[in-house]
Amino acid sequence: MQISANTQAIVYLVSAALFILSLKGLTHPATARRGSLYGMVGMALAIAATLLGEQIESYGFIVAGVLVGAPIGALLALRIQMTAMPQLVAALHSFVGLAAVLVAIGTFLNRRDAGSLDAVLMGELSAGAIIGAITFTGSVIAFGKLQGLISGKPLKFALQHQLNAGIALATIALGVHFAMTGSLFSLTLMTLLALLLGVTLIIPIGGADMPVIISMLNSYSGWAAAATGFTLQNNLLIIVGALVGFSGAILSYIMCKAMNRSIVNVVFGGFGSESGTEQSAGAAAMEKGIKSASVEDAVYWMEDANRVIVVPGYGMAVAQAQHALKEMMELLEARDVEVKFGVHPVAGRMPGHMNVLLAEADIPYDHVLEMDEVNPDFASTDVTLVVGANDVVNPAAKEDASSPIYGMPILEAGRSKQVYFLKRSMNPGYSGVDNLLFYQDNTSLIFGDAKDTIEGMVVALKGTGH
Ligand code: TAP
Repeated sequence: MQISANTQAIVYLVSAALFILSLKGLTHPATARRGSLYGMVGMALAIAATLLGEQIESYGFIVAGVLVGAPIGALLALRIQMTAMPQLVAALHSFVGLAAVLVAIGTFLNRRDAGSLDAVLMGELSAGAIIGAITFTGSVIAFGKLQGLISGKPLKFALQHQLNAGIALATIALGVHFAMTGSLFSLTLMTLLALLLGVTLIIPIGGADMPVIISMLNSYSGWAAAATGFTLQNNLLIIVGALVGFSGAILSYIMCKAMNRSIVNVVFGGFGSESGTEQSAGAAAMEKGIKSASVEDAVYWMEDANRVIVVPGYGMAVAQAQHALKEMMELLEARDVEVKFGVHPVAGRMPGHMNVLLAEADIPYDHVLEMDEVNPDFASTDVTLVVGANDVVNPAAKEDASSPIYGMPILEAGRSKQVYFLKRSMNPGYSGVDNLLFYQDNTSLIFGDAKDTIEGMVVALKGTGH
């Protein structure tokens, strides 16, 4: 069965509309499931319309690709831990980049042999190969950093910016030369330089900026896909590429704002290299000592509290403590204690990480507040329970100008009457920075796995039930 170009265009239009609805749905936890569904239906329609289109010459390679790729993808998706999602996303972006490079080179060789090259196409091929190559190696490096295969520390080297600028200029010059002459040598050298640029751009970027980089690479992968869409004359690929390109760019901007970073600094690897002064505020506070507390201490204060705020972080995801938290919330609410969850935009390891987990545990959306909504409430809160979060409540971001996280807006947990940190050790969070809040008078640490600790609280609350 084959469909006409017109029918294909109509199905593509429906898919494009579904993708836009999908993005809209994904902006809120309450509509995210529907958003995903729109996306899946849109993609199924798009794939079907493409496979049934007139331009398909043979199904052999397509079937072989699906037979090899689909089981790998399905297995990965089933086995991946939620906390390793950013790595998976980085790996998937690298495939988009590599595909764009391969399509550009393949199209050039085919069309050259057929004698049907033109200047516009050559420009598209240059753009596709350059963006694709940067996306490919950049994403591989990002994957290596997130997976711990490469050090997450910012790797600075002399004349880094000049080197990057030099490679970028040479790549563009070769791209123009290729577009004008069709020289295979220029195409090859240009692609190799763009691959190198992906490495030199991402390798200097420190762990704290990795979330922004992942969404930047997401945006790049969209532009690479759009360039491929021009090459293959596939309108839907152009639309989808542009949607991904813009949504990635908007997300990067939102995250930069949430972390108070300049996007230019992040992209050019200028941030995160400061290692702090010898005697930072953190080191000074260290000498003051910290307090540890028991589950019973925290329960004692919580059950008589008017308001408890839970600040979830990466450790809640590791411990999978969200279901126990829901139970604790219900027990406290039964005692007329108001329970809210304060979520920082970069808590966890991916955008929306905490929202997804809290939604999974059926914690009502109206209990989950964003940073700006919850910050004014801390001053009138009796107990703040910091569950596996660290960087997102660290006052060093406000007080210690030598700290790498200086300038990032934080959840002002320290302003509540009591603060309990639930964590396993004195280890710092993702950014490797000592937490000044540990040393504040109203703070105590309850050591242990967050799920075990919360379950202990649930037992204690049941035991003291009135
Ligand atoms: P972090 O600052 O990374 O702190 C996580 C804390 O969880 C650690 O202090 C760790 O201490 C504790 N922890 C780990 N496993 C635990 C367990 N089983 N039980 C109890 N505690 C456990 O987390 P955060 O406050 O959510 O901040 C997020 C950080 O990640 C930010 O720096 C952000 O920039 C970065 N980041 C964010 C994203 C996105 S988009 N959200 C992506 C990549 C990176 P112990 O080891 O002592 O238990």
